[in-house]
Amino acid sequence: MTTDSPTRADAASLRVGGQELELPIVHGTDGDDAVDIGKLRGETGLITLDPGYGNTGACTSAITFLDGEDGILRYRGYPIEQLAAQSTFLEVAYLLIWGELPTREQLDRFVSEVTHHTLIREEMRHFFDSFPSDAHPMAVLASGTVGMSNFYPDSQNIFDPDAVEITINRLIAKLPTLAAWSFKKAIGQPYVYPRNDLGYSANLLHMMFAVPSEAYEVNPKVAEALDLLLILHADHEQNASTATVRMVGSTHANLYASISAGISALWGPLHGGANEAVIDTLERIVADGGSVQKWVDKAKDPNDTFRLAGFGHRIYRNFDPRAKIIKSAAERVLAATGADDDLFEVAQRLEDVALNDEYFISRKLYPNVDFYSGMIYRAIGFPKTMFTNCFAIGRLPGWIAQWKEMMESPETKIGRPRQVYIGPDTRAYVAIEQR
Ligand code: SDX
Repeated sequence: MTTDSPTRADAASLRVGGQELELPIVHGTDGDDAVDIGKLRGETGLITLDPGYGNTGACTSAITFLDGEDGILRYRGYPIEQLAAQSTFLEVAYLLIWGELPTREQLDRFVSEVTHHTLIREEMRHFFDSFPSDAHPMAVLASGTVGMSNFYPDSQNIFDPDAVEITINRLIAKLPTLAAWSFKKAIGQPYVYPRNDLGYSANLLHMMFAVPSEAYEVNPKVAEALDLLLILHADHEQNASTATVRMVGSTHANLYASISAGISALWGPLHGGANEAVIDTLERIVADGGSVQKWVDKAKDPNDTFRLAGFGHRIYRNFDPRAKIIKSAAERVLAATGADDDLFEVAQRLEDVALNDEYFISRKLYPNVDFYSGMIYRAIGFPKTMFTNCFAIGRLPGWIAQWKEMMESPETKIGRPRQVYIGPDTRAYVAIEQR
């Protein structure tokens, strides 16, 4: 039975020439419903065309829901605001990957598993030697992640639940160590080993900022702020890097290879690299005298390629709910660390001017997750080249959850989009003498 509203109908009718095709509509629990075009090419010879996939669902998923119009984000049904206020990153990682909030016993076991896999193989110390000291930490993280698979051949058993579980735990445990050591390599300091008596985020801070020559005390408020940032970055349904992880995983490449591809996709300044680009922009504004209006005008100029990093989003046409939480956390961290970040004041002015500018209002461009996150990373002491590494550590459980859901789904086939060919028609080869 079809109803008038397109989103509650059970089928869509497509008329092509004299042919009429009925296409079923797939209803979600919330948000978008979809026209299932699985039989379109077979029945009509036509395919659909949707560059950037703005109107195309690649899968059904039960992991993360977001509503771009109302600025809603939920992990496995739990609102991000509640998880940010009450949960921890490892608990959220468990929720995303295994589908339910863990019992105390389940969480303790997961935390213990992660804690006891934080060391990377000692031979990998030499892996870092092959990079120049100014290597970008995202290049090191992506290559180190796929490189780790050489030490764990069981990761090739992608349909063995025990092999998958230990691979998941190793990745979550080792990515912070890999990231921290890429930073130590960049600044020429000794590698700092993880400590089993520290929590996940405190351990990352320890490996990043401790030196063998003196004691290093983790500031619990800073560890708490980092844990919050990791929660907020943990998943975001079918974004570019997650879609990449799913695509690579659909070829039955192992999880290390799939995650490494996701890290590379995240690096781009239109995606996770925007947090680093925001700081670049704010530093340019300060160096240029601090006038934000000039840079807002530059971002609006169609003839200028400059875009305001940290603003706009493919899905959110309202405030990114994560940006709101991060902005208030940034104020707390600046107070807790005593960091006097002149960039935060510029960022607030920039946000204020942009939000009241017709160009941004008409295009529904709001601050996204990357606009204020860099303030917190800076206040903590991370160099801006490490910001996207932190984003990757946060997004890892989401990538893993999406890969696992894809691998377990009977719907899954190897990803292989089609195209509309617009090149030359068939033509005969011409010898070079005749060209
Ligand atoms: C992340 O997908 C996810 O979920 C990603 C993410 C996640 O958690 O995984 O949320 C993380 O990647 C956040 C986004 C980080 N990127 C940036 O902050 C880079 C700056 N933002 C833009 O490049 C842009 O907004 C995108 C890439 C994020 C989204 O681009 P869209 O939706 O494809 O929008 P568009 O490029 O079609 O722009 C529509 C209009 C254009 O103007 P007109 O052609 O209509 O005149 O808005 C303009 C754009 O020029 N526009 C901007 C702008 N973003 C869009 N103008 C100035 N500054 C900007 N930031």
